[in-house]
Amino acid sequence: NAHERVFSGVQPTGNLHLGNYLGAIKRFVELQDRFECLYCVVDLHAITVWQDPAELKKSIREVAAAFLAAGVDGTKHIVFNQSQVSAHAELAWIFNCVARLGWLNRMTQFKEKAGKDRENASVGLYAYPNLMAADILAYRATHVPVGEDQKQHLELARDIAQKFNNDFSKSIADLGLAEKFFPQPEPLIAGPATRVMSLRDGARKMSKSEPSDASRINLTDDADQIAAKIRKAKTDPLPLPETVEEMKTRPEADNLIGIYAALADSDAAAVIAQFGGQQFSQFKQALVDLTVSKLAPITAEMKRLVADPGHIDQVLGSGAERAEAIAGETMNHVKDIVGF
Ligand code: ADP
Ligand code: NA
Repeated sequence: NAHERVFSGVQPTGNLHLGNYLGAIKRFVELQDRFECLYCVVDLHAITVWQDPAELKKSIREVAAAFLAAGVDGTKHIVFNQSQVSAHAELAWIFNCVARLGWLNRMTQFKEKAGKDRENASVGLYAYPNLMAADILAYRATHVPVGEDQKQHLELARDIAQKFNNDFSKSIADLGLAEKFFPQPEPLIAGPATRVMSLRDGARKMSKSEPSDASRINLTDDADQIAAKIRKAKTDPLPLPETVEEMKTRPEADNLIGIYAALADSDAAAVIAQFGGQQFSQFKQALVDLTVSKLAPITAEMKRLVADPGHIDQVLGSGAERAEAIAGETMNHVKDIVGF
């Protein structure tokens, strides 16, 4: 469908992990046949917390490499780097003036990331959801595949789209543009691993910024590292649950079963039918084998791509040109609508 467009992004902040793969990148690949897709390395988002410049440059190419290695087609679709298309920052400013302080005050991710020393958080970290709304709406994207952690931000993007359309309804009509100038972007949050949890703490999500490397499976980990982390993953002392209901009260089991189901393109019920009642040691071995078989080819391809930065830069450059053509057109309209 020509009017259905997907936008999503991943921050180049190092330590790409299994949660990023199952919650985002694997989905990116699956959506390519149904939608026109834009997949963005969101470096403007990354600097909302301090990034070492040399590391950032490396991470940008690494995220692009992960997209391509997982099977994103950078020729048919658009793979690019956010800072190379000026519309993101321009539209974010306009959205800073549309979104309300009260809306941003409700964002739980800011509270988590700012921590106790909130006075010392960057203004960018606070305004992050407005930039995310700009990322999506600059392309008037209709669908956004993300993990559950981004659900609240996506709702804010919908509110911003609606308020912009309402605030400027007269101007939009005078210019002869569609009444719903910005569409309401739909989240695509589905499947058994929309929130992959830490392997060390069932109450925290697997995250790039978690200090403990044992808490996550990195996309750069080798088979031995994956095996060691899964064997040490926290579980309760019982055998594997025998029903989906039982699984829901056992967070560690739920997490490992969810990971297995997502990697196997299956679901929790099928995994329980196969492994329910067995010991975790047995199941963990099967999970190691499955994880290694799915990730090893991606890791190897990432390594190959990262060794050839010229190719990655060429993909990103071509992507930025094509992204610019779409976002530039939106910005021309937006400037007219606002009265610039
Ligand atoms: P992180 O939160 O690790 O810094 P990003 O913010 O760059 O990662 O998120 C990139 C994508 O990966 C987003 O779509 C996000 O929803 C998804 N994602 C991040 N962590 C997880 C997780 N633990 N489980 C599922 N999806 C995740
Ligand atoms: Na995130």
